[in-house]
Amino acid sequence: TSVTDRVRALVAAHRGDRGALMPILHRIQAEFGYVDPGVVPVLAAELNISRADVHGVITFYTDFRSEPAGATVLKLCRAEACQSVGAEQLIAHAEQVLGIKVGQTTPDRSVTLEQVFCLGNCALGPAGQINEQVRGRLTRARLDALLTEAVG
Ligand code: FES
Repeated sequence: TSVTDRVRALVAAHRGDRGALMPILHRIQAEFGYVDPGVVPVLAAELNISRADVHGVITFYTDFRSEPAGATVLKLCRAEACQSVGAEQLIAHAEQVLGIKVGQTTPDRSVTLEQVFCLGNCALGPAGQINEQVRGRLTRARLDALLTEAVG
């Protein structure tokens, strides 16, 4: 089945639910790994809302990706406790070594860099997550080593 068919089926399953858009988007992201911009008009038509509203929700919630993630996903915490121990400098370093900005994927699609707001690891900040594994007390050197380990 095409993505469009699948999206229509998801909409049908949620028809009548209040606030159906969010659960549908979560299902799409879970099944496909990202929310293809091509589903925006389909969702808008099926749910009888504007494309701008659908697009707004997708871009507002950082959970949703609009393209497939890189092979390695690096998330760095930008919440208060981690900020107080150097999260911003760490993020700037990651952006520099990867040559991309937060929210982007390297051109070879090896790494996606994302920000998160608290990983529940505040006592061990700056914290991050690399391929679902939470890591604490990240320094630039430790981050470099983790990236080398993950990407090779
Ligand atoms: Fe970074 Fe909680 S503030 S893990």
